[in-house]
Amino acid sequence: MSRPASDRVNILGIETSCDETSAAVVRDGTEILSNVVSSQVDLHRPFGGVVPELASRHHLELIDSIVTEALTAAGMGWSEIHAVAATYGPGLASSLLIGLNAGKGIATSLGVPFYAINHMEAHLYSPLIARAELPMVSLIVSGGHTMLVHATAIGRHEILGQTVDDAAGEAFDKVAKLLKLGYPGGPEIDRLAKQGNPAAIAFPRSMLDDPSYNFSFSGLKTSVRYWLDRNGSAPVADVCASFQEAVVDVLVGKTMRAAEQFGVRTVSAAGGVSINSRLRARLREECDRRQIRLLLADAKLCTDNAAMIGALAFHKRSAPDMAVEIAPSIGLV
Ligand code: KG4
Ligand code: ZN
Repeated sequence: MSRPASDRVNILGIETSCDETSAAVVRDGTEILSNVVSSQVDLHRPFGGVVPELASRHHLELIDSIVTEALTAAGMGWSEIHAVAATYGPGLASSLLIGLNAGKGIATSLGVPFYAINHMEAHLYSPLIARAELPMVSLIVSGGHTMLVHATAIGRHEILGQTVDDAAGEAFDKVAKLLKLGYPGGPEIDRLAKQGNPAAIAFPRSMLDDPSYNFSFSGLKTSVRYWLDRNGSAPVADVCASFQEAVVDVLVGKTMRAAEQFGVRTVSAAGGVSINSRLRARLREECDRRQIRLLLADAKLCTDNAAMIGALAFHKRSAPDMAVEIAPSIGLV
């Protein structure tokens, strides 16, 4: 028998940490009633990266209409919102401020609780929205972060390692720039790599044999630059495939080593780079071989979105003592 509507908790989530303005209504932490995401990628494309000043101005212009759209799409009035959650960090300070203040303002005016949510923690639990299965080892790979996390329960997790320099997505974007491909570079490299030979060029597998779970991608980017200087007219598809293979080897190698060390039966991946088709295929292969369950979020939940913010807030609401940060706060709360 389904529970009466009055028992259900509807949370309005808001996300503005980088260049996506997003609002969502999530019911009971699992049911996404709406997830409106407005990407500014076209706005920043001419600059080859996110311009913080432009991003925050755009968030400010859009936030009201995106929140209204999320409520309308969920078929909901303000009185049916039981809590509000917004990302407090990490991210661009001037962008975070817009969503955070909008969220706090809405919560205050409705007289409902407000939850400040860590963006990386939301990425970490995003694959669980529909299918909770813990403990797990999770690879979080985005434009700003690369980390391996061991989570035993929602809110109980340990960072096993992270990048010591560039994030994986940053490496994709920088190499795409060297190859004069579009921005963001990850999807372009993914697409071109399908026509290339991943064994054509032996780029370094940085830190793969290092016993830690840390990553480093800046040396790989430099290797690609030197290689291009020496081999100007190389087939771009081969460079893309070989670079991508070097990144994927390290990401998959370390993820599977962590899964074995901690004896987990579930592995997950989240963040924009987890959409990468080669990374998904290799994770699938390695997990299948070990009979480990692989949880991959839908593409819309991999990149920045407010549904993951609203979903995590529900779990925090149920167990507030579980509020553990997995990345440093920038002190906005
Ligand atoms: O999670 P996300 O939307 O934003 C951050 O929180 O950083 O991740 C964006 C990153 C970009 O660097 C983009 O190039 C990368 O994810 N990305 C990909 C793919 N799709 C997006 N990287 C590799 N392959 C892809 N298919
Ligand atoms: Zn993100």
